[in-house]
Order: sequence, then C-alpha cells, then structure tokens
Amino acid sequence: MEIASTVNELREKILAWKNQGRKIGFVPTMGYLHEGHLSLVRESKKRSGATVVSIFVNPKQFGPTEDYKVYPRDLERDRALLEKEGVDLIFYPPVEVMYPEGYRTYVEVEDLQDKLCGKSRPGHFRGVCTVVLKLFNLVQPDEAYFGWKDAQQVIILRKMVEDLNLPVKIVPLPLVRDHDGLALSSRNTYLSPEERQAALVLKKSLDLAENLIQTGEKNARQIREKMIELISAEPLARIDYVEIVDLQNLEPLEKIADEALIALAVFIGRTRLIDNLRITTGGIEK
Ligand code: PAJ
Repeated sequence: MEIASTVNELREKILAWKNQGRKIGFVPTMGYLHEGHLSLVRESKKRSGATVVSIFVNPKQFGPTEDYKVYPRDLERDRALLEKEGVDLIFYPPVEVMYPEGYRTYVEVEDLQDKLCGKSRPGHFRGVCTVVLKLFNLVQPDEAYFGWKDAQQVIILRKMVEDLNLPVKIVPLPLVRDHDGLALSSRNTYLSPEERQAALVLKKSLDLAENLIQTGEKNARQIREKMIELISAEPLARIDYVEIVDLQNLEPLEKIADEALIALAVFIGRTRLIDNLRITTGGIEK
C-alpha cells in the first residue's frame, strides 16, 4: 500500500492503473476510520481492480464555530487498518495541496444543500461538493462508495454527478451501527460514557418510528411528534431537527408513501449526531 500526498504522485499511480485497464474504486473519508468506513472499503475491494481511499479533513465543510481543529486524526491507526484491508493507495493531501493560496472555485447543489443539515450548517454541503468534485477529478474513479449514514450527502452528491455529467457511479451502502445500535461516527469519540448512553435515544426514536409505520401509521406529523417526545425526555439531548422528507427532493412529507427519509440531528451535550431511516419499496432500512 502506498501513500500519495501530492497531485503528481497520485496522478502517476492512477494513470498506470488506467493503462492496465484496472477499474478504480474510491472511498473518500476524513479519517479516524471505523467499521462504517471499512464496509465501504470492502465493497470497493470486491468490485474494483484498485482501491483508493482519501483521508482529508476538509476545512471548507466546517463552519467557523465547528470542530475542524479538534476533529480526531490518527494517520498511523488509519494506515494500519487500510493496510489490513488490502487498500492499494491512500491519498493524504495537506490542505495547501487541495486549496492553494488564492483558491476560488466552489460547487453548489441548489436547494438540496439548504435543507436538513444544511439549515444548521450553512456552507457545509458547498464544502462537501467542492472537495468531492476535486477528489473525483484527481482520482478519476469508476465507482465511489458512500454510506447512507449521511443520507443527505448521498442525495446531493448523486445530483451533482447527474447535473455535471460526471463519469463516476455513486454506490451508496448501508449505515453501520455499534452493537448497541448507535450509528458509528468518528465524532462518537467526543462523547463521555454518560453521553454515549444518552446518544442511544437517536436510534430509539427511529425504532419507535419504524414500529408506528409497521402498525399502519402513515401520518408524518404524528410520527414526528412521538419521536420528538421521546428524544425530549432525554435530559442530555437537544434536538436540531427531526424531519420526514421525500427521498429524492428532501421536501417535507405529510403522509408516508412508498419512499421516505426520516432524518434527525440531535446534540448530545456539545456533540451533534445524525441518524436516519429510509423507507423504500424494498422495506425499511436503518
Ligand atoms: P466521513 O465522515 O469520514 O465519512 C466517509 C464516508 O463514510 C461517508 O460516505 C460516510 O457516509 C461513511 N460513513 C460514516 N459513518 C458510517 C456508518 N456508520 N455507516 C456507513 N457509512 C458510514 O462523509 C465524509 O467523511 C466527508 O463529508 C467526505 C465525503 C469525505 C467529504 O469530505
């Protein structure tokens, strides 16, 4: 496994693989890897001839008061994990390589970027789209793997790829949870043991929604209200949003039909956590 930190090092490798006809699979990450990330890596390994993982804590997707500075970083740990998975190349650029002095160009997916997480994190998806488009241009993957953990991110990036005719296939993969149901996240390291326990309320509220839906409840307001009631009973939790929206355009739904996204963001102490459940014609996934 190699590590490239500059554009030239990366391009040289990619070109060699392209010339050998190898299909390139790409997993963009911000590092501090867990089983959620590794599930994407494993899928890429299965489906591609070469797997590239990027590790880059992207300053452009953090707001001025957010956790960019303290976001957990541990290259040695990540490197060992990826080596074990048989990853071919890690792209680990310093900030100056991605955003040299005078950087000026940004990508926005209008409307979708302003909903759900975009409301409380203005500029977040502009930063995500910009870095992902740059990474796609650098890595030139055939397929890129993303987790449904960040459902809005998947929906926005899919739209970006469609609108800009990018020659890459976005492959979304299931959300991976800890043994007790908490959605795996690099940010879980911020939680104290007491907060870690309180954080289970996100998954519990989705379980409640699932039960209501399975017993025939279709009214989104009713489901939302019951979820909010459950979360509000947890003293360490403060709701950012709980929403039931269309899976394509993220517009609020009144009634749950064949497809819907139930998404929530909740502060547990000072840590903002997200979770979601998707209803598709194939069933409920969370
Ligand atoms: P990061 O939070 O490191 O996540 C990298 C990828 O792992 C994303 O596709 C995310 O959805 C996926 N992931 C995280 N936790 C997961 C879980 N519990 N189950 C399944 N997949 C999970 O998302 C980002 O980084 C950044 O926004 C990025 C796309 C790299 C752009 O900077």
